[in-house]
Amino acid sequence: MRIAIDGPSGAGKSTIAKMLARHYDILYLDTGAMYRAIGLSAVRNHVDVYDFSAVSDLIKKVDVQVKYENGAQAVYLDGENVNGLIRTEEVSMAASAVSAVPEVRIKLVELQREVARGQSVVLDGRDIGTYVLPDAEFKFFLTATAEERARRRTLELQGRGLPADYETVLKQIIERDHADSTRAFAPLKQAEDALLVDSTGLEIDEVLRIMTNAIDGE
Ligand code: DC
Repeated sequence: MRIAIDGPSGAGKSTIAKMLARHYDILYLDTGAMYRAIGLSAVRNHVDVYDFSAVSDLIKKVDVQVKYENGAQAVYLDGENVNGLIRTEEVSMAASAVSAVPEVRIKLVELQREVARGQSVVLDGRDIGTYVLPDAEFKFFLTATAEERARRRTLELQGRGLPADYETVLKQIIERDHADSTRAFAPLKQAEDALLVDSTGLEIDEVLRIMTNAIDGE
């Protein structure tokens, strides 16, 4: 069983994907973390993330690996576990920019398909149902209004003791949505056969129920 979850940032994809992985006892792959690792590498190496040729040179040299440690995904960049370094706003914007470069996508998609090969998985990202696993058994497009996603993100950051201003977060979310859905190669798009789930105003348990009902055929 392969489950594909796509949607814009902050829609709750990773939370729900983890819940589905636990519910069905299958593997979860957070593909965004892989783009974030490349974004981090670009930031560290002072590579202009909007320069396609510089990013494509970078991707030839970086080594990205995904490992599972105590059931949790760890992303390794050139041998270093970078899980704790890839959730900053700077890396988010860099990840979005480098993800537009075809060479980056080709390399990471190959890795993603390798992880998904021969086992039951849930993957979340932007192009899972349209490009990475077009023949996945279950596809969802999880979304929410930009305002709701910004509200959740602001609360989450504040909960972690980080400075967060709603208006700034909203602006970044809108910018990233635009960049992710207008890039030429494998943009964020709902697959024709994906079930649209709008989580605006829903509790996470209600979203989970909608998805498990769809999967279990109830
Ligand atoms: O899901 P996320 O916010 O962690 O993803 C970070 C960025 O990576 C996102 O802005 C776009 C890119 N991405 C992508 O292009 N394709 C994916 N399958 C996953 C993420």
